[in-house]
Amino acid sequence: MPLLPILRFPDPRLRKVAVPVTNIDGSIRQLAADMAETMYEAPGIGLAATQVDRHIQLIVIDISEERNAPLTLINPEILADEGLQIGEEGCLSVPGVYDKVERAEKITVRYLDLAGKTQTLEADGLLAVCIQHEIDHLKGFVFVDHLSQLKQARIKSKLAKQARITA
Ligand code: NI
Repeated sequence: MPLLPILRFPDPRLRKVAVPVTNIDGSIRQLAADMAETMYEAPGIGLAATQVDRHIQLIVIDISEERNAPLTLINPEILADEGLQIGEEGCLSVPGVYDKVERAEKITVRYLDLAGKTQTLEADGLLAVCIQHEIDHLKGFVFVDHLSQLKQARIKSKLAKQARITA
């Protein structure tokens, strides 16, 4: 399975709003498999289709320690949220940058699985953070959008410097 290139902040394609998946066919299942492979290789705990320049509502997540429990959420929608938590986040599209972001502590999310079946999941802690972070991507947001303007400017210049070194 091919690894997919991951867009890097501030690439404007990260701002595209993803459309719902209308037909869960072989190409969607292949994309989910390739995204999971790309996420494990990176390594990361979540990846949104937006980050691989596919602007459809599909995310893959695996917060398991064994890295063998990939979760694919298609057309995810948060039905309810509760409480607040602040955790340190990072993102495969913003390499080397970690900062604190406030998220709901607990969420209820409805989505389609790879078989096209509607699922409802109650998540809290890290899984809740990860789902909120990935759904943000589908809407064209990156976690650094939650940070101050000053921090965002610093992150942009840090990443521009990295790009010059690795180019
Ligand atoms: Ni991310």
